[in-house]
Amino acid sequence: MARILGSITTSHVPAIGGAIARNRQQDPYWKPFFDGFAPVHRWLDETRPDTVVVFYNDHGLNFFLDTMPMFAVGAAVGYRNADEGWGIPEVPPFEGDPAFSWHLIEHLVARDFDITSCQAMTVDHAFTLPMALLWPSQRWPVRVVPVCVNTVQAPLPSAARCLALGRAVGEAIRNWPDDRRVLVLGTGGLSHQLDGERAGFINKPFDLAFMDSLAANPQWATRYGTRELVELAGTQGVELLMWLAARGALGDRAVELHRNYHIPVSNTAAGLMLLEPAA
Ligand code: DHB
Ligand code: FE
Repeated sequence: MARILGSITTSHVPAIGGAIARNRQQDPYWKPFFDGFAPVHRWLDETRPDTVVVFYNDHGLNFFLDTMPMFAVGAAVGYRNADEGWGIPEVPPFEGDPAFSWHLIEHLVARDFDITSCQAMTVDHAFTLPMALLWPSQRWPVRVVPVCVNTVQAPLPSAARCLALGRAVGEAIRNWPDDRRVLVLGTGGLSHQLDGERAGFINKPFDLAFMDSLAANPQWATRYGTRELVELAGTQGVELLMWLAARGALGDRAVELHRNYHIPVSNTAAGLMLLEPAA
């Protein structure tokens, strides 16, 4: 059976792509953010995943407001990035894992998740930049399965639903009759608001409480409705739903191996966590 190695959850601010392109990782502004990934790189060297399931939210590259699936799973042979207008270089294409994608889609539908299956899909900064943070060479040593969650067009899925989606993804990984070593990646957050009267809003106490809850008590965030999450974390901070989905895949018990939290990167509180399923 396939094995879940762990989950990595990280912010995906587009400016990260600019910093990578200009080699600014050791600038005082960027160092506290990029240095947070050193333990993650060591862990990836040890655990060597074959496939990555990526929970992320598309921001208008593949899906726009006219047609917005709540949950979409990639089932393509490969995925490419395209220019989104941030001025960041496009990254090399990603190899898909269609056999695993279809197993995942079958399992999710059997578990009553009415997901959209995508045999063609472009992936935006929310997918590509976390991958580039994990594998800075951008010679991807893994196959990928994108799982896109709507955080763009109201109404959004609830925290409880995203956690349940992650749990079902975890079941699908564990019952896949294959020896794949699977990493779960969740991208977005933490607190940030890019627009409106509260542009620049960051909520450190809430972010830290959320991070503290994730390993032992991921249900904690499900006490909040979407509007409350927007109030607490900012309009775009609701991307923390991706963290809940990734955590859900680990099963009931998980342990925290590493975290980093740095304010700000662009307008965002940048968070990073590495969790493993408890033995
Ligand atoms: C920023 C953060 C995001 O999550 C995003 O998708 C775009 C921009 C930012 O802080 O600049
Ligand atoms: Fe975002």
